[in-house]
Amino acid sequence: MSFVCLTDFQAHARERLSKSTWDFIEGEADEGITWKDNMAAFKKIRLRPRYLRDVSKVDTRTTVQGEEISAPICISPTAFHCMAWPDGEMSTARAAQAAGICYVTSTYASCTLEDIVATAPKGLRWFQLYVQSDWELNKQMVQRAEALGFKALVITVDAPVIGKRRRDIRNQLNLEAKLMLKDLRSPEERISSRVQLSSINASFCWKDLSQLQTITRLPIILKGILTKEDAELAIKHNVQGIFVSNHGGRQLDEVPASIYALTEVVAAVKGKIEIYLDGGVRTGNDVLKALALGAKCIFLGRPILWGLACKGEHGVEEVLSILKNEFHTSMSLSGCRSVTEISRELIQFSIL
Ligand SMILES: Cc1cc2nc3c(=O)[nH]c(=O)nc-3n(C[C@H](O)[C@H](O)[C@H](O)COP(=O)(O)O)c2cc1C
Repeated sequence: MSFVCLTDFQAHARERLSKSTWDFIEGEADEGITWKDNMAAFKKIRLRPRYLRDVSKVDTRTTVQGEEISAPICISPTAFHCMAWPDGEMSTARAAQAAGICYVTSTYASCTLEDIVATAPKGLRWFQLYVQSDWELNKQMVQRAEALGFKALVITVDAPVIGKRRRDIRNQLNLEAKLMLKDLRSPEERISSRVQLSSINASFCWKDLSQLQTITRLPIILKGILTKEDAELAIKHNVQGIFVSNHGGRQLDEVPASIYALTEVVAAVKGKIEIYLDGGVRTGNDVLKALALGAKCIFLGRPILWGLACKGEHGVEEVLSILKNEFHTSMSLSGCRSVTEISRELIQFSIL
């Protein structure tokens, strides 16, 4: 089977995975309104290309938090990669390193952080934290990630509780029984302490951010911001970045598509910190639109798991390379030679 675009991987992954694993990966919350909107919203935006510019050389490189990446296409944190491929996050990490992009490793990785780093020591990695009720555990995890060379801490704010995923309930999916959550404590302590999905700290709020800032020197990035009010609070609390994200439509349903929320957040942030976007990005044109509307970089969730399920490390590499090539073509066809030339003028606002 030849894989031409990201949705080819989706179709093939569905055939390869068990129903309950497929449903967990696709898994939308409630009625799936936001999940659908994430993709549909991109398709409502039209482009205003500029021609007769020399696009014989197009450069997709950019930076995130000061580190160079080969294209503004990185990997969002997703849990339990071993459900999609036997050595899970280790394959993902090697593919990300080969592609020269950033991989955000989930709190609920199914490989240890040590193994992930050892298999791809030169890769750029950030660590995603679901803040736990146990502050000693938060401290241990964050300091362990920092010592292992993770370059930023991504705090997911849109999951104080887990959204209602109807498919998982119908399938009676029990992740805690199915998987050993190896990653949370240091290797010596692992056996005695299986941290549970339910241990996310639902009382974590703005004032507690300073506690995190005292235990790490890493830049802190908030993932899941959708409003100008929260974007302004993020700046006030000295965070270094924001992910505009609705968790791929897996948390609160009927919130705006990420690409729509982006405009509001960009206006509030006024260029003070970097803004990233995830949710529904499937084509090079989607990447172009997100950058034109103010994102520094996009991140992929499900497409990475589709690539992993189809061909492991090579599948992830292929997903990243197909999207990068599409983005390169989108840049060339719209007259952008470098990512700094991608601007709001590319977007036709009358139909937004
Ligand atoms: C199977 C799966 C597991 C996820 N696990 C996490 C996680 O552990 N931490 C987190 O912050 N977000 C998690 N997410 C959300 C993703 O980081 C991301 O926001 C979302 O998948 C982006 O949308 P996309 O799948 O349309 O690209 C998960 C998403 C999926 C599909």
